[in-house]
Amino acid sequence: MKPILSAALSALMVFSAGAQTGDRKIIRIATDNTDLVLEVGPNNRLYQTYLGPKLRHNEDLINLTWNQHAGSDGSVSTRGWEAYSTSGNEDFFEPALGITHSDGNMTTYLYYENSTQEEVPGGTHTKINLRDDKYPVNVTLNYVAYPKENVIKTWSEISHREKKPISLSQYASAMLYFNEPEYWLTEFSSDWAKEAQMSTQQLQFGKKVIDTKLGSRAAMHTHPFFEIGLNGPAKENSGEVLMGTLGWTGNFRFTFEVDNVGNLRVIPGINPYASTYELKANEVFTTPEFIFTISYDGTSQGSRNLHDWARKYQLKDGEGQRLTLLNNWENTAFDFDQDILAKLMKEAKHLGVDMFLLDDGWFGNKYPRKDDHAGLGDWEVTHDKLPGGIPALVDAAKEADVKFGIWIEPEMVNPKSDLYEKHPDWVIEQPNRDTYYYRNQLVLDMSNPKVQDHVFNVVDNILTENPDVAYFKWDCNSPITNIYSPYAKDKQSQLYVDHIRGIYNVLKRIKDKYPDVPMMLCSGGGARCDYEALKYFTEFWCSDNTDPIERIYIQWGFSQFFPAKAMAAHVTSWNKNTSVKFRTDVAAMCKLGFDIGLQDLTAEELEYCQQAVENWKRLQPAVMDGDQYRLVSPYETNHAAVEYVDKSKKMAVLFAYDLSPRFQEKLSPVKLRGLDPDKKYLVKEINLMPGTESTFTQNNKVFTGDYLMKVGLNIFSWNHNTSTVLELTAQ
Ligand code: GLA
Repeated sequence: MKPILSAALSALMVFSAGAQTGDRKIIRIATDNTDLVLEVGPNNRLYQTYLGPKLRHNEDLINLTWNQHAGSDGSVSTRGWEAYSTSGNEDFFEPALGITHSDGNMTTYLYYENSTQEEVPGGTHTKINLRDDKYPVNVTLNYVAYPKENVIKTWSEISHREKKPISLSQYASAMLYFNEPEYWLTEFSSDWAKEAQMSTQQLQFGKKVIDTKLGSRAAMHTHPFFEIGLNGPAKENSGEVLMGTLGWTGNFRFTFEVDNVGNLRVIPGINPYASTYELKANEVFTTPEFIFTISYDGTSQGSRNLHDWARKYQLKDGEGQRLTLLNNWENTAFDFDQDILAKLMKEAKHLGVDMFLLDDGWFGNKYPRKDDHAGLGDWEVTHDKLPGGIPALVDAAKEADVKFGIWIEPEMVNPKSDLYEKHPDWVIEQPNRDTYYYRNQLVLDMSNPKVQDHVFNVVDNILTENPDVAYFKWDCNSPITNIYSPYAKDKQSQLYVDHIRGIYNVLKRIKDKYPDVPMMLCSGGGARCDYEALKYFTEFWCSDNTDPIERIYIQWGFSQFFPAKAMAAHVTSWNKNTSVKFRTDVAAMCKLGFDIGLQDLTAEELEYCQQAVENWKRLQPAVMDGDQYRLVSPYETNHAAVEYVDKSKKMAVLFAYDLSPRFQEKLSPVKLRGLDPDKKYLVKEINLMPGTESTFTQNNKVFTGDYLMKVGLNIFSWNHNTSTVLELTAQ
């Protein structure tokens, strides 16, 4: 090895830095377990040469070549995996970037200029500057590698100095390539009350696209995340799997293309559907962050990578505590007054939760919000209903000794509202066409700075008048229909993008002014759940479907990408065929809340809930901040089991469910994971209904972690819809 090369490669090893190796320029973006290696080809363009398990020996980097992935024409010397492929080049497959230059030319070629690396919290940020040699177009590729969590986030910045604007027809966040015998995609399809449903298919030649066009929210029919099993369907505890998610709260698109020689390219980004972007000179178009991890031990490890990363670096107050709460939506809907709410606050206290959350229906005077037909946009308390306004509610909460939180849906408007009458031009709506309403409402035009001020003021006014308001549930029920903005004038094709950027402007202002106010992100259930929005929200509402059976599947799906701490789950009266215990145990696997009247509970059930809240609070180091292990899948068996272990491995909790076992079907022991094999754990059933004895035969016994992980516990039964919660305490 030449000395210059070896010195450069050891620098790479330590700093994941770029290296000039004689006439070769190699850029290594590394986590503890994964290497993404890029190289500048002899033509001065940038190629991906490797993405996979971390290479052990530095000298192997030079054996990776930019053109090793041959094309069908055998032209190994002229084609490679271009790191950010552009339209009009010799690649022939889906590019990341499509530009129409100001003179009408549609080709772009990007050449390497320079790159830098700097330390950022938790990781290393690599910036690679590329430039077209015929047009003054610049692209910066950004990669932040978080070594410990094995997560990489990547995005691009596009700018130019042409005399007139250029048109961006596609502008992906990144591009990744794989060369494996098989690729299996797991997607997360969705609908109202049917979020995060997992299904898997093999990718064959050609393209598979997952996208949404809802405008104001990323998801409804599918979510902005996916898994690719490399060399076989993704498995829970073994095999190589790419898990990726886009931080964008609007239209997104994932393109998976298997090419002529069986290589896969993954292209995540904003959906360019109806969104050709006219980019002015010197304006920087920054794409959303694409966040991914590659696990070599199945999705379970990949999820833990993402959970750890999110709590540390992305989720609002990711390392802070969460508030348990009592919500009133399922209990009262719109039908409440000051006395009813004051009574519910006392109930919240009695239940032992931290906060009362007032939901929809508290606002509007000219058009009071009696149902979902009117009032959205008029964020003034309905005087007849709540004469003392929010201050009286805050006082009542203080008297009850609970915190007070409130629901808003500030990006929306009902046509029956004062706001709509005063500012019809603030609404996304096509004046000369029939309007299509979704939940009787329309979307405000967030690209308009005046509308951004209005939305900011919804929160700011409430908090200025009532600094003790402790929490917001921020909803977004309507997708965008009839897309047209008077404000955007001739820039209509930018509206889908600028609308979402306007939302972020507001959320950023709110976070800057009120950094400590927790907020729940909600969108007609769980239709907003992406890692850009979650910079501003402490948690999201997973689904309006709180039937615990359905929730086991929904939570299983979301948990692939989000820590339990980010997932709000409430105990309600959905599916009364299941016990309150069962419903509570399912909700206790996430951020626990209740949305049920205490009148609907028997004395025993209430006592049970009080105990469950106390237990949940005690178990937070495991459930909220620990490692999650999905042990038994409801998709594959008639049972389910999920375990949480605190980081010191002193405390663990196992949630086990008998869903719909067959007659005398074989019951296998549940083998735990993540424990210290040499520690001894006392295993104790908790969350028992008052007056009932545990029927778990191994209750109150001590086992080594080794035994629990190798032999397991006989926790399942042939009962239907029953749950068992075990607390494990290291002795
Ligand atoms: C949406 C939310 C619900 C509730 C209602 C209120 O549907 O998902 O939780 O807040 O709005 O209208």
